[in-house]
Amino acid sequence: MTKEIRIGLVGCGFMGRTHTNGYKRVGDFFPELSYRPILKAVCARNKEKVAAFAQQWGYESYETDWNRLIARDDIDAIDICTPNNMHAEIAIAAAKAGKMILCEKPLARTLPEAASMVKAIEQARVKNTVWYNYRRIPAVTLAKKIVDSGKLGRIFHYRANFLQDWTINEHLPQGGKAFWRMDANAAGSGVTGDLLAHCIDTAMWLNGAIKDVSAVTETFVKQRMHEETGRLQDVKIDDACIFHCHFENGSLGLFESTRYARGHKALYTFEINGEHGSLKWDLHDLNRLDYFNHRDESELRGWRSILVTDGDQPYMDKWWVPGLSIGYEHSFVHQVADFLHSLESGQACAPSFRDALETQKVCEAVLHSASSGQWQQTDVVWAAETQ
Ligand SMILES: NC(=O)c1ccc[n+]([C@@H]2O[C@H](COP(=O)([O-])OP(=O)(O)OC[C@H]3O[C@@H](n4cnc5c(N)ncnc54)[C@H](O)[C@@H]3O)[C@@H](O)[C@H]2O)c1
Repeated sequence: MTKEIRIGLVGCGFMGRTHTNGYKRVGDFFPELSYRPILKAVCARNKEKVAAFAQQWGYESYETDWNRLIARDDIDAIDICTPNNMHAEIAIAAAKAGKMILCEKPLARTLPEAASMVKAIEQARVKNTVWYNYRRIPAVTLAKKIVDSGKLGRIFHYRANFLQDWTINEHLPQGGKAFWRMDANAAGSGVTGDLLAHCIDTAMWLNGAIKDVSAVTETFVKQRMHEETGRLQDVKIDDACIFHCHFENGSLGLFESTRYARGHKALYTFEINGEHGSLKWDLHDLNRLDYFNHRDESELRGWRSILVTDGDQPYMDKWWVPGLSIGYEHSFVHQVADFLHSLESGQACAPSFRDALETQKVCEAVLHSASSGQWQQTDVVWAAETQ
Protein backbone atom coordinates (compact mmCIF):
# COMPACT_ATOMS: atom_id res chain seq x y z
CA MET A 1 0.00 0.00 0.00
CA THR A 2 1.23 3.50 -0.83
CA LYS A 3 2.07 5.70 2.14
CA GLU A 4 2.19 9.47 1.84
CA ILE A 5 5.02 11.69 2.97
CA ARG A 6 3.75 15.26 3.00
CA ILE A 7 6.47 17.72 2.02
CA GLY A 8 6.85 21.29 3.30
CA LEU A 9 9.47 23.03 1.18
CA VAL A 10 11.20 26.18 2.45
CA GLY A 11 12.73 28.33 -0.31
CA CYS A 12 11.71 28.27 -3.93
CA GLY A 13 14.87 29.29 -5.76
CA PHE A 14 17.32 27.07 -7.65
CA MET A 15 17.24 24.15 -5.19
CA GLY A 16 13.52 24.52 -4.54
CA ARG A 17 13.05 23.68 -8.21
CA THR A 18 15.50 20.76 -8.36
CA HIS A 19 14.01 19.13 -5.24
CA THR A 20 10.43 19.62 -6.38
CA ASN A 21 11.30 18.04 -9.71
CA GLY A 22 12.73 15.12 -7.72
CA TYR A 23 9.53 14.70 -5.69
CA LYS A 24 7.40 14.86 -8.83
CA ARG A 25 9.44 12.36 -10.87
CA VAL A 26 10.28 9.78 -8.25
CA GLY A 27 6.97 7.88 -8.26
CA ASP A 28 7.03 7.46 -12.04
CA PHE A 29 10.55 6.07 -12.17
CA PHE A 30 10.76 4.23 -8.83
CA PRO A 31 7.25 2.68 -8.75
CA GLU A 32 8.34 -0.04 -6.32
CA LEU A 33 8.73 2.45 -3.44
CA SER A 34 5.92 2.30 -0.90
CA TYR A 35 6.23 5.99 0.04
CA ARG A 36 5.05 8.81 -2.25
CA PRO A 37 5.89 12.49 -1.70
CA ILE A 38 2.90 14.82 -1.64
CA LEU A 39 3.60 18.47 -2.45
CA LYS A 40 1.70 19.83 0.52
CA ALA A 41 3.08 23.34 0.98
CA VAL A 42 5.88 25.64 -0.10
CA CYS A 43 7.17 28.60 1.90
CA ALA A 44 8.97 31.80 0.93
CA ARG A 45 8.65 35.35 2.20
CA ASN A 46 7.23 37.02 -0.90
CA LYS A 47 3.52 36.15 -1.21
CA GLU A 48 3.17 36.73 -4.97
CA LYS A 49 6.29 34.72 -5.76
CA VAL A 50 5.50 31.79 -3.50
CA ALA A 51 1.90 31.66 -4.73
CA ALA A 52 3.12 31.59 -8.33
CA PHE A 53 5.64 28.84 -7.48
CA ALA A 54 2.94 26.77 -5.76
CA GLN A 55 0.71 27.13 -8.81
CA GLN A 56 3.44 26.34 -11.34
CA TRP A 57 4.88 23.31 -9.56
CA GLY A 58 1.68 21.88 -8.09
CA TYR A 59 1.93 22.56 -4.34
CA GLU A 60 -1.45 22.35 -2.61
CA SER A 61 -0.81 25.46 -0.50
CA TYR A 62 1.78 28.03 0.50
CA GLU A 63 3.05 29.91 3.55
CA THR A 64 5.10 33.08 3.93
CA ASP A 65 6.48 32.24 7.40
CA TRP A 66 8.41 29.00 7.88
CA ASN A 67 7.31 28.84 11.56
CA ARG A 68 3.74 28.41 10.37
CA LEU A 69 4.83 25.68 7.96
CA ILE A 70 6.54 23.78 10.77
CA ALA A 71 3.52 24.22 13.06
CA ARG A 72 1.22 22.52 10.56
CA ASP A 73 0.21 18.98 11.44
CA ASP A 74 -0.38 18.02 7.79
CA ILE A 75 3.38 18.23 7.05
CA ASP A 76 5.68 15.21 7.65
CA ALA A 77 8.99 16.49 6.27
CA ILE A 78 10.60 19.91 6.07
CA ASP A 79 12.91 20.44 3.11
CA ILE A 80 15.33 23.36 3.67
CA CYS A 81 16.32 25.14 0.44
CA THR A 82 17.15 28.55 1.88
CA PRO A 83 20.47 30.39 2.06
CA ASN A 84 22.89 28.89 4.59
CA ASN A 85 22.17 31.34 7.44
CA MET A 86 18.62 29.94 7.75
CA HIS A 87 19.50 26.23 7.88
CA ALA A 88 20.15 25.91 11.62
CA GLU A 89 17.15 27.87 12.88
CA ILE A 90 14.71 26.05 10.61
CA ALA A 91 16.22 22.58 11.17
CA ILE A 92 16.27 22.92 14.96
CA ALA A 93 12.64 24.13 15.04
CA ALA A 94 11.59 21.36 12.65
CA ALA A 95 13.35 18.73 14.79
CA LYS A 96 11.60 20.00 17.92
CA ALA A 97 8.29 19.67 16.07
CA GLY A 98 9.18 16.06 15.23
CA LYS A 99 9.41 16.59 11.46
CA MET A 100 11.72 14.67 9.16
CA ILE A 101 14.32 17.02 7.68
CA LEU A 102 16.01 17.16 4.32
CA CYS A 103 18.54 20.01 4.39
CA GLU A 104 20.61 21.60 1.66
CA LYS A 105 24.39 21.73 1.96
CA PRO A 106 26.55 23.00 3.53
CA LEU A 107 24.81 21.90 6.71
CA ALA A 108 25.48 25.32 8.26
CA ARG A 109 27.73 28.39 8.15
CA THR A 110 30.05 27.21 10.92
CA LEU A 111 30.95 24.07 12.83
CA PRO A 112 29.22 25.12 16.11
CA GLU A 113 26.05 25.91 14.17
CA ALA A 114 26.21 22.51 12.44
CA ALA A 115 26.89 20.74 15.76
CA SER A 116 23.78 22.32 17.30
CA MET A 117 21.72 20.97 14.38
CA VAL A 118 23.08 17.45 14.81
CA LYS A 119 22.31 17.61 18.53
CA ALA A 120 18.73 18.71 17.83
CA ILE A 121 17.95 16.01 15.26
CA GLU A 122 19.58 13.28 17.34
CA GLN A 123 17.64 14.33 20.45
CA ALA A 124 14.41 14.39 18.47
CA ARG A 125 15.37 11.14 16.65
CA VAL A 126 13.95 12.41 13.37
CA LYS A 127 14.86 11.10 9.91
CA ASN A 128 17.33 13.36 8.18
CA THR A 129 19.53 13.75 5.13
CA VAL A 130 21.68 16.42 3.50
CA TRP A 131 21.58 17.05 -0.25
CA TYR A 132 25.13 16.20 -1.26
CA ASN A 133 23.57 15.05 -4.50
CA TYR A 134 26.73 14.41 -6.55
CA ARG A 135 26.99 11.00 -4.87
CA ARG A 136 23.83 10.07 -6.78
CA ILE A 137 25.19 10.71 -10.25
CA PRO A 138 25.47 7.15 -11.61
CA ALA A 139 29.09 7.54 -12.78
CA VAL A 140 30.09 8.81 -9.32
CA THR A 141 28.19 5.97 -7.63
CA LEU A 142 30.00 3.55 -9.95
CA ALA A 143 33.32 5.11 -8.88
CA LYS A 144 32.36 4.29 -5.29
CA LYS A 145 31.63 0.66 -6.25
CA ILE A 146 34.99 0.35 -8.01
CA VAL A 147 36.93 1.86 -5.09
CA ASP A 148 35.09 -0.34 -2.57
CA SER A 149 35.77 -3.46 -4.66
CA GLY A 150 39.48 -2.87 -4.07
CA LYS A 151 40.27 -2.78 -7.82
CA LEU A 152 42.40 0.34 -7.44
CA GLY A 153 44.47 -1.22 -4.65
CA ARG A 154 46.23 1.10 -2.25
CA ILE A 155 45.21 4.72 -2.90
CA PHE A 156 47.99 7.30 -3.29
CA HIS A 157 46.28 10.46 -4.55
CA TYR A 158 42.90 12.18 -4.57
CA ARG A 159 42.51 15.40 -6.58
CA ALA A 160 39.45 17.59 -7.02
CA ASN A 161 38.59 20.94 -8.57
CA PHE A 162 35.42 23.01 -8.57
CA LEU A 163 35.89 26.02 -10.85
CA GLN A 164 33.52 28.85 -11.74
CA ASP A 165 33.90 32.39 -13.10
CA TRP A 166 30.72 34.29 -12.16
CA THR A 167 32.12 36.81 -9.64
CA ILE A 168 35.03 38.27 -11.60
CA ASN A 169 33.16 41.53 -12.30
CA GLU A 170 34.20 43.86 -9.47
CA HIS A 171 30.97 45.84 -9.80
CA LEU A 172 28.74 42.95 -8.71
CA PRO A 173 27.20 43.67 -5.30
CA GLN A 174 27.23 41.39 -2.28
CA GLY A 175 24.19 40.31 -0.24
CA GLY A 176 20.52 40.48 -1.08
CA LYS A 177 18.49 37.87 -2.96
CA ALA A 178 20.79 37.20 -5.90
CA PHE A 179 24.20 37.61 -4.25
CA TRP A 180 23.81 36.12 -0.77
CA ARG A 181 26.68 33.72 -1.61
CA MET A 182 29.07 36.70 -1.49
CA ASP A 183 27.91 37.87 1.94
CA ALA A 184 29.65 36.04 4.79
CA ASN A 185 26.69 36.63 7.12
CA ALA A 186 24.37 34.71 4.82
CA ALA A 187 26.78 32.15 3.37
CA GLY A 188 29.29 31.55 6.19
CA SER A 189 32.14 31.24 3.72
CA GLY A 190 32.76 31.54 0.01
CA VAL A 191 33.91 28.72 -2.24
CA THR A 192 34.89 26.58 0.78
CA GLY A 193 31.32 26.02 2.01
CA ASP A 194 29.65 26.44 -1.35
CA LEU A 195 31.81 24.33 -3.68
CA LEU A 196 34.60 22.57 -1.79
CA ALA A 197 32.01 21.13 0.61
CA HIS A 198 30.75 19.05 -2.33
CA CYS A 199 34.28 17.95 -3.23
CA ILE A 200 35.03 17.06 0.40
CA ASP A 201 31.82 15.04 0.80
CA THR A 202 32.55 13.03 -2.36
CA ALA A 203 36.21 12.62 -1.40
CA MET A 204 35.52 11.24 2.07
CA TRP A 205 32.75 9.01 0.72
CA LEU A 206 35.18 7.54 -1.81
CA ASN A 207 38.45 7.67 0.08
CA GLY A 208 37.70 7.96 3.81
CA ALA A 209 38.48 10.58 6.43
CA ILE A 210 40.58 13.67 5.76
CA LYS A 211 42.97 13.90 8.71
CA ASP A 212 44.61 17.31 8.41
CA VAL A 213 44.75 20.20 5.96
CA SER A 214 46.94 23.09 4.87
CA ALA A 215 45.10 25.80 2.97
CA VAL A 216 45.38 29.19 1.31
CA THR A 217 42.42 31.38 0.45
CA GLU A 218 42.17 34.65 -1.45
CA THR A 219 39.57 37.39 -1.75
CA PHE A 220 40.38 39.11 -5.03
CA VAL A 221 37.81 41.92 -4.80
CA LYS A 222 38.17 43.35 -1.30
CA GLN A 223 35.10 45.58 -1.14
CA ARG A 224 31.70 45.46 -2.79
CA MET A 225 28.49 47.40 -2.38
CA HIS A 226 26.06 45.57 -0.09
CA GLU A 227 22.64 45.20 -1.69
CA GLU A 228 20.80 45.57 1.64
CA THR A 229 22.75 48.44 3.26
CA GLY A 230 23.64 50.28 0.03
CA ARG A 231 27.17 50.77 1.47
CA LEU A 232 30.56 49.71 0.17
CA GLN A 233 31.61 46.96 2.61
CA ASP A 234 34.53 44.58 3.07
CA VAL A 235 34.06 41.24 1.34
CA LYS A 236 34.58 38.54 3.98
CA ILE A 237 34.16 35.40 1.93
CA ASP A 238 36.92 33.40 0.21
CA ASP A 239 36.80 33.89 -3.57
CA ALA A 240 39.30 31.08 -4.08
CA CYS A 241 40.69 28.29 -1.92
CA ILE A 242 43.42 25.73 -2.45
CA PHE A 243 44.23 23.08 0.11
CA HIS A 244 46.21 19.91 0.39
CA CYS A 245 45.66 17.21 2.98
CA HIS A 246 46.38 13.76 4.34
CA PHE A 247 43.67 11.13 4.28
CA GLU A 248 43.44 8.61 7.10
CA ASN A 249 44.38 5.84 4.61
CA GLY A 250 47.77 7.49 3.94
CA SER A 251 46.91 9.06 0.57
CA LEU A 252 47.46 12.72 -0.29
CA GLY A 253 44.68 15.08 -1.38
CA LEU A 254 44.79 18.25 -3.46
CA PHE A 255 41.72 20.48 -3.81
CA GLU A 256 41.12 23.75 -5.63
CA SER A 257 38.05 25.92 -5.96
CA THR A 258 37.52 29.42 -7.30
CA ARG A 259 34.91 31.70 -8.82
CA TYR A 260 37.66 33.42 -10.85
CA ALA A 261 38.58 30.74 -13.42
CA ARG A 262 37.51 32.56 -16.58
CA GLY A 263 35.66 30.22 -18.93
CA HIS A 264 34.66 27.66 -16.31
CA LYS A 265 31.02 27.62 -15.19
CA ALA A 266 30.79 24.56 -12.94
CA LEU A 267 33.83 22.43 -13.66
CA TYR A 268 33.71 19.84 -10.90
CA THR A 269 36.30 17.15 -11.55
CA PHE A 270 37.95 14.51 -9.42
CA GLU A 271 40.66 11.94 -9.97
CA ILE A 272 41.83 9.11 -7.77
CA ASN A 273 45.08 7.24 -8.32
CA GLY A 274 45.73 3.82 -6.82
CA GLU A 275 48.35 1.13 -7.07
CA HIS A 276 46.46 -0.89 -9.71
CA GLY A 277 44.31 1.74 -11.36
CA SER A 278 42.87 5.24 -11.53
CA LEU A 279 39.48 6.88 -11.97
CA LYS A 280 38.50 10.32 -13.17
CA TRP A 281 35.19 12.13 -13.54
CA ASP A 282 34.05 15.48 -14.90
CA LEU A 283 30.67 17.10 -14.20
CA HIS A 284 30.57 18.56 -17.72
CA ASP A 285 30.46 15.01 -19.08
CA LEU A 286 28.67 13.49 -16.12
CA ASN A 287 27.59 10.19 -17.66
CA ARG A 288 31.19 9.14 -18.24
CA LEU A 289 33.68 7.61 -15.85
CA ASP A 290 37.26 7.19 -17.01
CA TYR A 291 39.03 4.12 -15.68
CA PHE A 292 42.61 2.93 -16.09
CA ASN A 293 43.36 -0.65 -15.07
CA HIS A 294 47.05 -1.43 -14.87
CA ARG A 295 46.22 -5.14 -14.76
CA ASP A 296 44.88 -5.06 -18.33
CA GLU A 297 46.90 -6.92 -20.96
CA SER A 298 49.85 -4.56 -21.59
CA GLU A 299 49.34 -4.22 -25.34
CA LEU A 300 45.75 -3.06 -24.88
CA ARG A 301 46.25 -1.11 -21.66
CA GLY A 302 44.94 2.46 -21.60
CA TRP A 303 42.28 4.75 -20.18
CA ARG A 304 38.79 3.48 -20.93
CA SER A 305 35.88 5.87 -21.03
CA ILE A 306 32.83 4.15 -19.56
CA LEU A 307 29.49 5.56 -20.69
CA VAL A 308 27.46 4.84 -17.57
CA THR A 309 24.04 4.18 -19.11
CA ASP A 310 23.55 0.41 -18.94
CA GLY A 311 20.81 -1.13 -16.80
CA ASP A 312 23.34 -2.95 -14.61
CA GLN A 313 25.07 0.33 -13.70
CA PRO A 314 23.88 2.36 -10.68
CA TYR A 315 20.33 3.77 -11.00
CA MET A 316 20.29 3.32 -14.79
CA ASP A 317 17.74 0.50 -14.86
CA LYS A 318 15.23 3.20 -13.87
CA TRP A 319 15.72 5.33 -16.97
CA TRP A 320 15.94 4.83 -20.73
CA VAL A 321 17.82 2.27 -22.81
CA PRO A 322 21.61 1.69 -22.86
CA GLY A 323 23.44 4.51 -24.59
CA LEU A 324 20.97 7.24 -23.63
CA SER A 325 22.17 9.78 -21.10
CA ILE A 326 20.58 11.39 -18.06
CA GLY A 327 21.40 14.77 -16.48
CA TYR A 328 22.10 16.83 -13.37
CA GLU A 329 18.45 16.85 -12.25
CA HIS A 330 18.36 13.06 -12.00
CA SER A 331 20.78 13.11 -9.05
CA PHE A 332 18.00 14.80 -7.04
CA VAL A 333 15.41 12.23 -8.16
CA HIS A 334 17.83 9.55 -6.95
CA GLN A 335 18.31 11.27 -3.60
CA VAL A 336 14.54 11.45 -3.07
CA ALA A 337 14.28 7.75 -4.01
CA ASP A 338 17.05 6.80 -1.58
CA PHE A 339 15.42 8.87 1.16
CA LEU A 340 12.05 7.17 0.60
CA HIS A 341 13.77 3.80 0.53
CA SER A 342 15.42 4.62 3.88
CA LEU A 343 11.95 5.15 5.38
CA GLU A 344 11.09 1.59 4.37
CA SER A 345 14.36 0.02 5.45
CA GLY A 346 14.74 1.96 8.69
CA GLN A 347 18.37 2.70 7.74
CA ALA A 348 19.87 6.20 7.81
CA CYS A 349 19.85 8.04 4.48
CA ALA A 350 23.46 9.01 3.82
CA PRO A 351 24.73 11.59 4.02
CA SER A 352 22.97 12.19 7.32
CA PHE A 353 23.35 15.39 9.35
CA ARG A 354 26.10 13.62 11.27
CA ASP A 355 27.97 12.75 8.05
CA ALA A 356 27.57 16.34 6.87
CA LEU A 357 29.00 17.52 10.20
CA GLU A 358 32.23 15.70 9.31
CA THR A 359 32.41 17.61 6.01
CA GLN A 360 31.78 20.81 7.97
CA LYS A 361 34.76 19.94 10.20
CA VAL A 362 37.01 19.82 7.15
CA CYS A 363 35.63 23.14 5.83
CA GLU A 364 36.25 24.74 9.23
CA ALA A 365 39.80 23.32 9.41
CA VAL A 366 40.49 24.62 5.88
CA LEU A 367 39.41 28.15 6.83
CA HIS A 368 41.39 28.04 10.11
CA SER A 369 44.47 26.82 8.31
CA ALA A 370 44.18 29.58 5.70
CA SER A 371 44.00 32.27 8.38
CA SER A 372 46.69 30.81 10.66
CA GLY A 373 49.09 29.65 7.96
CA GLN A 374 49.43 26.37 9.90
CA TRP A 375 48.44 22.77 9.26
CA GLN A 376 45.14 22.04 10.97
CA GLN A 377 43.78 18.74 12.32
CA THR A 378 40.18 18.05 11.26
CA ASP A 379 39.11 15.56 13.99
CA VAL A 380 36.92 13.86 11.40
CA VAL A 381 35.32 10.58 12.45
CA TRP A 382 34.27 8.77 9.27
CA ALA A 383 32.28 5.60 9.76
CA ALA A 384 32.72 3.94 6.38
CA GLU A 385 30.22 1.17 7.09
CA THR A 386 27.35 3.66 7.46
CA GLN A 387 28.04 5.34 4.14
N1 LIG B 1 23.13 20.51 -3.74
C1 LIG B 1 23.58 21.41 -4.60
O1 LIG B 1 24.23 21.09 -5.57
C2 LIG B 1 23.27 22.86 -4.38
C3 LIG B 1 23.26 23.75 -5.47
C4 LIG B 1 22.90 25.08 -5.23
C5 LIG B 1 22.59 25.50 -3.95
N2 LIG B 1 22.65 24.63 -2.92
C6 LIG B 1 22.30 25.06 -1.54
O2 LIG B 1 20.88 25.25 -1.49
C7 LIG B 1 20.55 26.35 -0.64
C8 LIG B 1 19.73 27.34 -1.45
O3 LIG B 1 20.48 27.76 -2.58
P1 LIG B 1 19.75 28.26 -3.92
O4 LIG B 1 20.79 28.30 -4.98
O5 LIG B 1 18.52 27.49 -4.14
O6 LIG B 1 19.38 29.75 -3.48
P2 LIG B 1 18.32 30.72 -4.12
O7 LIG B 1 18.78 32.09 -3.78
O8 LIG B 1 18.08 30.36 -5.56
O9 LIG B 1 16.97 30.39 -3.32
C9 LIG B 1 16.85 30.65 -1.94
C10 LIG B 1 15.37 30.66 -1.58
O10 LIG B 1 15.25 30.82 -0.17
C11 LIG B 1 14.19 31.74 0.09
N3 LIG B 1 14.36 32.32 1.42
C12 LIG B 1 15.37 33.09 1.89
N4 LIG B 1 15.14 33.41 3.17
C13 LIG B 1 13.97 32.84 3.53
C14 LIG B 1 13.19 32.82 4.71
N5 LIG B 1 13.56 33.47 5.81
N6 LIG B 1 12.01 32.12 4.71
C15 LIG B 1 11.60 31.45 3.61
N7 LIG B 1 12.31 31.45 2.45
C16 LIG B 1 13.47 32.14 2.41
C17 LIG B 1 14.33 32.75 -1.05
O11 LIG B 1 13.15 33.49 -1.22
C18 LIG B 1 14.60 31.81 -2.22
O12 LIG B 1 13.37 31.30 -2.72
C19 LIG B 1 21.89 26.88 -0.14
O13 LIG B 1 22.14 26.35 1.13
C20 LIG B 1 22.90 26.39 -1.15
O14 LIG B 1 24.19 26.22 -0.61
C21 LIG B 1 22.97 23.33 -3.12
